[in-house]
Amino acid sequence: MRHEVRGNTPSPAPQTRGGELLIDDIGTLAAVPPGPLRGSAMGDWPLLRDAALLIRDGRIAWFGPRREAPRTPATRVWSAGGGTLIPGLIDAHTHIPFAGDRSAEFVRRVSGESYLQILESGGGIRVTVAAVRAAEQSELVAINAPRLQRMLQQGVTTVECKSGYGLSAADELKQLLATRDLQATTPLELVPTYLGAHATPAEFHGRPDEFLDLIGAPSLFAKIAKEKLAEFVDVFCDRGAFTTEQSRRYLLAGKQAGLAIKLHADELAQIGASRLAGELGAVSADHLELIDDAGIAALREAGTIAMVLPGTSFFLGIHHADARRMISGGLAVGLATDFNPGSSHIDSLPFVMHIACCQLRMTPREVIAAVTANAAAALRREARLGAIAVGHDADLTLLNTPTLDWFFYEPARDHVAAVFKRGRRIDAPND
Ligand code: NIG
Ligand code: FE
Repeated sequence: MRHEVRGNTPSPAPQTRGGELLIDDIGTLAAVPPGPLRGSAMGDWPLLRDAALLIRDGRIAWFGPRREAPRTPATRVWSAGGGTLIPGLIDAHTHIPFAGDRSAEFVRRVSGESYLQILESGGGIRVTVAAVRAAEQSELVAINAPRLQRMLQQGVTTVECKSGYGLSAADELKQLLATRDLQATTPLELVPTYLGAHATPAEFHGRPDEFLDLIGAPSLFAKIAKEKLAEFVDVFCDRGAFTTEQSRRYLLAGKQAGLAIKLHADELAQIGASRLAGELGAVSADHLELIDDAGIAALREAGTIAMVLPGTSFFLGIHHADARRMISGGLAVGLATDFNPGSSHIDSLPFVMHIACCQLRMTPREVIAAVTANAAAALRREARLGAIAVGHDADLTLLNTPTLDWFFYEPARDHVAAVFKRGRRIDAPND
């Protein structure tokens, strides 16, 4: 029988600016340690029953058993109603900001055409490129701000945002600037990634190297790095996109400018992309539906986070990445939505977490580690985000289930009861 969480409309309003807030009556505290958590460590961390957590100046100052909670007369107390408190969810792979719609292509795929066939026939990414090129920077902001708000309501506190639908220097910069503008509209933390090498645009058809000369020009990377428009450089290294040689050249130019490396790897064909990720010391390699043993070894040796995107394999109807093999191979596996209009029109990280549990056979604790500690590591924020640790930012998501297992046992329901960013409640305007 399900235990209803007591009092899920908590009051009084929790704010921690200038004071202490004690979150009390936590039924289960998911005490995820700082990442990256590799292999069996993903599923081997404490679930504390009847816990409390103290926030001071936006950071976690203490956590432990309720009866030992430190409090002064000035400490405000807020009841978690017996729910499950986890680190704020981190969506470390999205294609926000995008514009346009690909519903017609979705129906073509459902009717039998493959993602690659549609891409190679001039559809796919290029359709979104046309829509993004046609949009003003302010329109990109207006279209994508509500998307971020929906993600926030689903327990997400940090979101990675990729360019890659501009495919000209000016339009890529427009996307990155739109992400900067979006940051001013949301309490979520946005992490920008430059994905100029996402596809070869129509005007460079048959001339991908010339396109890369432009989109991977040292001067463009220098501008992006200097103006802090992106922290990461990313490439779609796959059949129908860019070869490993092309990807290496482009990524090394980005690295030279100070950007950290990510790759879209091993999604549509096995061309050695995850081996390249290891060779270049990438922070993350993402997708990995077709990773091979050499790829797993390469990621392990380089300490690269293996980002698995089961929303994409669900949405495309392709087979899921073998997360169990990666975990038993000692990798730190992360999970993200890959939210984009073509291959994963899914903004819900909780939905992806449920797919990972039910279909990829990841345990509840492994899934939580993947969307917190390991996702933080995929964004190079593990020293501050993604863990229940003293000194870490108080980014927290409260689930209205008494245990973590119950959250996974009951998919297709909204279980998010409250969301905190740096100790401040962000999901409810007056709280
Ligand atoms: O991560 N794989 C490449 N890029 C995206 C898809 C982008 C699109 O189809 O618009 C992805 O799946
Ligand atoms: Fe992607």
